[in-house]
Amino acid sequence: MSRNVLLLPGDGIGPEIVAEAEKVLNKVNDQFNLGLTFDKALVGGAAIDATDSPLPDETLEKARNADAILLGAVGGPQWDSLPMAKRPEKGLLGLRSNLQLFANLRPAILYPQLASASSLKPEVVSGLDILIVRELTGGIYFGQPRGVRELENGERQGYNTYQYTESEIRRIGRVAFEAAQQRGKKLCSVDKANVLEVTVLWREIMEDLKREYPDVELSHMYVDNAAMQLVRAPKQFDVIVTGNMFGDILSDEAAMLTGSIGMLPSASLNSEKQGMYEPCHGSAPDIAGQGIANPLATIISAAMMLRYSLNEEKAAEAIEAAVSKVLDQGLRTADIMSDGGQKVSTREMGEAVLSAL
Ligand code: NAD
Ligand code: IPM
Ligand code: MN
Repeated sequence: MSRNVLLLPGDGIGPEIVAEAEKVLNKVNDQFNLGLTFDKALVGGAAIDATDSPLPDETLEKARNADAILLGAVGGPQWDSLPMAKRPEKGLLGLRSNLQLFANLRPAILYPQLASASSLKPEVVSGLDILIVRELTGGIYFGQPRGVRELENGERQGYNTYQYTESEIRRIGRVAFEAAQQRGKKLCSVDKANVLEVTVLWREIMEDLKREYPDVELSHMYVDNAAMQLVRAPKQFDVIVTGNMFGDILSDEAAMLTGSIGMLPSASLNSEKQGMYEPCHGSAPDIAGQGIANPLATIISAAMMLRYSLNEEKAAEAIEAAVSKVLDQGLRTADIMSDGGQKVSTREMGEAVLSAL
């Protein structure tokens, strides 16, 4: 049985980090006889430059037909002045919405070797293992109406709409409750139900769902407090479920608990468990082209891809073990150097994971 993996390197450090993940995937493909075939396509700024569209039809078609997708990152200052609909980020958002990848899993796990790379005290973060479940195809990112309009007094006003239907809340809630059942059985739903009606409904649906998952302890937290609690005492959390924008912000915050944003992987799944896998970070224009970006978030995302979309748990575990081994060896890209160790480039880190496999 051959299965097709679509690689979407994208922009900035995207091609650098995807190249390393690709080597790792090729190796486990041989070692474990996975029968994976690989294809590549353009997305984001790279696609704009070549085709004038951040999500060419050909890319969307390939994505629809792929068994799984691995994406680097999109965006960069050279495209920032384009109109919203033509920007690189629209390519990513278009993939998410066209494939209905509503469930974004962002595990923030601290590798024990990196306890002192975190900006928090080692005792605050050691043993950290939280899962952020972010709704990815709705909320204020996609709500209509949106835009910039001119008011009667001639002033312009920008506006977006924060909305969720009951069914959208219910399906992401189910993913989170089920994830909690497999883990520490604690689910914290993060909202702003003291101010926003949409999240009053969110909270109501989560409470309703709780009856189907009596073994899971459900709590609610306002997002401002959650941001604070994440740096005060992050280990109080097991699974966090939240909307699209709060999840975007809280996951970058959680990334830093693990030492670096360069360590945080993600999976974006639809109801058929087809998935797109990508690091949580962006295209890092400030370090692009220097060969110093951390490829581990992308490599760990590839492991998640093997686990969730391709049902290859052994190969996924082999990659995770190899990552752990190179960290044991003291190899560090610049972003995780704060605890000392041997400084390596993007490619050297990729090669080290390959040798550890
Ligand atoms: P960013 O995540 O690209 O960078 C933030 C900081 O983290 C930078 O200092 C960067 O050097 C560092 N960083 C990020 N990834 C790293 C890695 N793997 N190794 C070492 N350091 C790393 O966020 P930003 O600067 O706000 O955004 C830059 C561009 O990326 C924007 O165009 C934005 O829209 C886009 N973006 C894309 C995605 C995505 O494709 N999924 C995600 C976030 C941002
Ligand atoms: C992410 C990114 C994206 C988001 C942007 C690039 C559209 O920040 O994947 O976290 O906001 O979802
Ligand atoms: Mn983000």
